[in-house]
Order: sequence, then C-alpha cells, then structure tokens
Amino acid sequence: MKDLKNFIETNKEKFLEDLFELIRIPSISSKESHKDDMYKAANWIKDYLIKDGADMAEVLDTEGHPVVFGEKIIDPSLPTIMVYGHYDVQPVEPLDLWESEPFEPEIRDGKIYARGADDDKGQMFMHFKAFEYLVKTDQLPCNVKFMIEGEEEIGSPSLEKFCNDNKKKLEADVILVSDTTMLAPDIPSITTGLRGLSFCEVEVTGPNRDLHSGLFGGAIANPANVLCKMIASLTDEKGRITVKGFYDDVEVVSKEEREDMARAPFDLAAYKKAVDVDEVDGEDGYSSMERVGIRPSLDVNGIWGGYTEEGAKTVLPSKAHAKISMRLVPHQDSKKITELFIKHFESIAPPYVKVKAKVLHGGEGYVSPTDTIEYQAASKAFEEIYGVKPIPYRSGGSIPIISLFEKVLGIKSILMGFGLESDAIHSPNENYPLEQFYNGIETIPYFYKYYTEMKK
Ligand code: BES
Ligand code: MN
Ligand code: MN
Repeated sequence: MKDLKNFIETNKEKFLEDLFELIRIPSISSKESHKDDMYKAANWIKDYLIKDGADMAEVLDTEGHPVVFGEKIIDPSLPTIMVYGHYDVQPVEPLDLWESEPFEPEIRDGKIYARGADDDKGQMFMHFKAFEYLVKTDQLPCNVKFMIEGEEEIGSPSLEKFCNDNKKKLEADVILVSDTTMLAPDIPSITTGLRGLSFCEVEVTGPNRDLHSGLFGGAIANPANVLCKMIASLTDEKGRITVKGFYDDVEVVSKEEREDMARAPFDLAAYKKAVDVDEVDGEDGYSSMERVGIRPSLDVNGIWGGYTEEGAKTVLPSKAHAKISMRLVPHQDSKKITELFIKHFESIAPPYVKVKAKVLHGGEGYVSPTDTIEYQAASKAFEEIYGVKPIPYRSGGSIPIISLFEKVLGIKSILMGFGLESDAIHSPNENYPLEQFYNGIETIPYFYKYYTEMKK
C-alpha cells in the first residue's frame, strides 16, 4: 500500500479535528429532544463522504432517524463492499461521573475521551479515512457503498422497512463493519458472533397513590419490594434464567467448539481489572467468555420507584418499574422470547399488585462462518499490520441490523472491530485509544485489497 503510513502520519491531526466535529453533535437516538442533532450528524456525514471522494451521498428519511447512504462505483463488474456504521450514540447519564464533557472530546493519556469516541463514531470514521486514502492515491480496487444509520442504539426499529424499500440501492457483496472489540491491543480478533436482544419495561402497581410507610407499611404490599422479589426469581442459584421455555431453542455448542474457545487468549485477571471487580459471576459450568459468547443472560438495566430525590421521605410507593434486557444466542427468536418473558412475568405477579409489561426493542443475533472469502481477507489484513493471525470469537454485544442485512438483503457481514473492552462504551468516560484508531485506518485498506483479489 503505497504511502499508507505516510498518509496517516501527515494527516493525524486533521483526522482528529474532523472526527471531533462529528463527536460534538450530540446525536442521542433514544431522546426525542435530540431529533435535530440526528439530522445534523447525518448531514455532516453526507458532506464528509463527498469530501473524502464518494460520487454521491444522500440523507434518506426513514420512519425514525435518517440513514446516510453514499457510494463510489468505479466499475459495476467489480465487487462491492458496503461499509456499515452508526452515527447515533447512547445517553450520557450519569453526567457527574464524566471527567470531561461527554460531547467535548479531549485527549488524555493517548485516548480520545467522549461519548461516541469508540461506539461508533470513532470506529466508523476509520473507514472514512481508509476510503479517502484509497481514492486519493488511486488505489481503490472495488466499488464502495456506505450505509450509516442513526437507530442502532435503539434496536434499529425502522431499518427492516428501510432495507426492504431500498434493496437495489443496497446491493453489495459483503458488509464491512467496525463496531465491535478486539481481545487486547496486540491480539487482533474477528467477531464471529453477536447476541440477540429482547428488551422490556415492566411496571408494578400496588396502592393507587403513594402511602405513608408508617401508617400502611406491613399491611399493604409495597410494589418496590414485590418487584425486587419478582426480579430475584427470574434467575436461580445456578445462574439460569427461570422464564418458562427460555432455553428451548438455545444452540448447543459442540465440545470441540468449546475447546476452541477455551484456547483463545483470555486473561481473567486483566478482565477483572478492566471492569474493576474482584470476582466474576454467571451461569454455573461456563467460563466468562462462554457466558457472554454462547449463553443467554437477563439483566436489570434500570430500576426505579418511590422517592429517589435528596434526603428522606417515608413513603410506600404506588408504583415500581424496571427495564429488563435478555441477551439471546443463536436460534432464540427475539419476538418469541419477549412473549415468553411477558407471560412469565405476569404469571408470577402476586394478587396484591397489577403488572404491565411492554417491549422497548429487540433484535436477532448473528453467527458468521470462518471459511468465507471475507473472513480470509480480514484475517490477512490484520496479519499484515499486527504480524499475527486474528482470533475468531463470539462477542456478547448486539448489532440487530447485522442479521437483518442477511435476512432482507442476503448479504453477510464481516466484523473487524478495533474497540477494546476498556473503552467504557455506554459508560461515563467512554474512550478510544489513538493507537487503535490509527491501526484501524491502516488495516482497513488491506481488507479492500485482499477481498477484491480473492473475490475476482
Ligand atoms: N457496538 C455495540 C455492540 C458491540 C460492542 C458488539 C462491542 C460487540 C462488541 C452497539 O452499538 C451496541 O451497543 N448495541 C446495542 C444494541 C441494542 C441497543 C439493540 C447493545 O448491544 O446494547
Ligand atoms: Mn456500536
Ligand atoms: Mn452501542
């Protein structure tokens, strides 16, 4: 790759300046109040793709947040790579735990600190720069499309329809994505599995108004206590989920595959240190990697009710709420699990409370084979820069659109992530090491090269 290192070296500062412009737009998809920011971010990307060398780029409306589409077609008979990324980000709360402003990127200890620094603005931006390099040095070997969405962090609710309505536009041979992690800075990895998701919100109602907790405490059921008991019963002492039928479709992973997984260089001590815990926990009989890679999970993501402001108020709440997510593994269907969960949750409610459960969002998981051209091309690209073969591994996170792409468009994705587990995505002080950022920009052009060579 002619002048690649030089291209990165000379433009390092400019890359950051541009990425920071995008990061400063607070494109939080889950909040209605940020609707305008979604368009701002989408338009910024559209203009940027043109500057980087796309023939065309456009902002397309969906029923939810807009999608940016762009392309450069050099020869219709050549392969087409479609780059996918998302410009939306997660909410930033709790704000007081941030050491710098979430939407004012700052570099400390060689890392970019900001919401979206890694997930996914920073990772997506590496693709813009790799593309610019290939175009400006006349080395683009194939056609390129970009599809950048704004609803990933809320489960891509409008994207199934969008893909169905735009099948022709989105035709491609492979989808290239950087929105996952690698095992360590010196251990490149290719994500071969993503979990699905079912996400529900529950409400438990007791008395019709908040009551004095002295006058009524002990005589009237407290919905907050009841909710806690109900939630506690959703997993058993072995760490298994008790929702009826929950495990019916769970993929049984072969002994051989589990042995393969166990060979991955996973460092439990480093893992505990990265998340600051003394002990790990999870389903009996499975390693930490297996617990996120091949087993489902159930978690409370938020829980509230009663008086939560400053100081004391003796009150027995009328209502208590929780947001509960279930991460799913291959063959578990998100809609089916959601139904099972709601039925189960209603069935365990004692007679002295009423429960309501609603769906927030969901999506299917993904497993990708390693005997494909795209896997081999990605593997060679990583090897070129890191000097070692990347390790295939199944991640615990979800990117619902990846299975949609396969279902609706019939296109497989290759997940070349450069994030690290320590990047604190979705947490305060999200960060992205500059080294990961620049290494990504250097690795991606090789994927284009090897993929096109192997595909032709
Ligand atoms: N980029 C993440 C998913 C991810 C991160 C996968 C690291 C593998 C490794 C993505 O932006 C994400 O957070 N997805 C959501 C999806 C959900 C809201 C439907 C998730 O997993 O919570
Ligand atoms: Mn992401
Ligand atoms: Mn995310």
